Amino acid sequence: MENLKEVLLKNHQDHLLKYLEIANEDEKQKMIKQIDNIDFEQLNKLYKISKNNNFNTNCKIEHSSFVDKSKLTIDELEELKEVGKNIIKSGKYAVVTMAGGQGTRLGHDGPKGTFLLNVNPKPKYLFELIAEGLIRANKKYNITLNWYIMTSTENNDKTVEFFKEHEYFGYPKESIMFFEQGNMPFLSEEGKLLVDDSFNIKYAADGNGCIYKSMLKDGVIDDMKNKGIKWIFVGSVDNALVNMVDTVLIGLTIKENNEIGSRSIVKSNPHEPVGVFCKKNGVPAVIEYSEISKEMAEATDDDGELLYGESNIMAHLYSIDAIEKISKHDLPYHSAHKKAPYMKENGELVNPTKPNAYKYEAFIFDGFSYFDNMSVLRVKREENFAPIKNKEGNDSPETAIKLYNNFWHV
Ligand code: UD1
Repeated sequence: MENLKEVLLKNHQDHLLKYLEIANEDEKQKMIKQIDNIDFEQLNKLYKISKNNNFNTNCKIEHSSFVDKSKLTIDELEELKEVGKNIIKSGKYAVVTMAGGQGTRLGHDGPKGTFLLNVNPKPKYLFELIAEGLIRANKKYNITLNWYIMTSTENNDKTVEFFKEHEYFGYPKESIMFFEQGNMPFLSEEGKLLVDDSFNIKYAADGNGCIYKSMLKDGVIDDMKNKGIKWIFVGSVDNALVNMVDTVLIGLTIKENNEIGSRSIVKSNPHEPVGVFCKKNGVPAVIEYSEISKEMAEATDDDGELLYGESNIMAHLYSIDAIEKISKHDLPYHSAHKKAPYMKENGELVNPTKPNAYKYEAFIFDGFSYFDNMSVLRVKREENFAPIKNKEGNDSPETAIKLYNNFWHV
């Protein structure tokens, strides 16, 4: 206890001692264990950058080159498809779905993949849509792709249970592997750790950029290597038109001699909430919508097109070596100002109506910076992107259903 007091005092977190005074014995032991696991040095560093997401100042930013799929000739397309097809058919390809996010904006109570989208001819869960796409590819290429699903502490059990309940949507369950991403604590505006009404230090998922370390830690990279997998597609759970098996993207990335590739679409307007591809200090990068300046978002080229208009739809391809290389680096954390309900030191619950705390997340695309180049394949929005982010309006179930029904002519 004396040691604990000293650590908390030294790190300006001694308010936690007051919680320990009112907690019962079990709660107290649990909280002590949690405090023991905190990396205070990292926390202190993070708090310093909380109000200052200075990722794009003082660096040289240039627009990203890309290949427009619609401008490729039939022969060029066929050549790329052939390369991709051979990779898939020889068992060297696997897919990963990032499903650790919470879907707070959507207002869905549960893992985002368990959201039921009312598409034609019958409603389907987001996980079901992905499973169907993979089953289609398996039939086409006469193979069973290994499917890895990243969950978070908060939604892992519910996700695994959901798959069991729905009999894995007909996907061979021995080819599915779940793995869990990590957490980062919230910090109040004063840099204090928050506590919930069960005397837990408040944590949130540490961002999709932690995928690389989680794949390393949970043995996913080893599993892939043992299975001879060389190329991995990583996609999001919240795009009803996500195409996880794209022979052209594989072919292009290999032809261009790159280790990373990604699909892009043209930004619909300067302020669409999507990240944009660029080169930052000479290496590939994405500038997130939350961090782009108004000037940069609105900048146009000589033809009046957006200078930073190649939008990230989270359809990334990596060689296994690229994933392993990135997993050995510490990606930076970005902070976001959020509403985080918590319990005061006197046991009173607070449900904030405006942001009161900082959340820290690593971004998956920050891993691109460890490479000199990457392939960017511009594809058609209406064939590739039907995001489900908000409850209503743009990027909502309503817009995604329309896009899905149009694409499938249902
Ligand atoms: C993301 C992209 C943005 C892109 C947009 C397109 C990042 C950092 N941002 O933004 O550039 O233009 O999608 O739709 O990639 N996830 C986890 N764990 C987490 C956080 C998220 O697995 O800790 C997963 C989610 O389940 C989802 C995906 O990552 O599959 C995207 O998450 P979200 O935070 O909703 O991203 P956006 O803000 O929409």
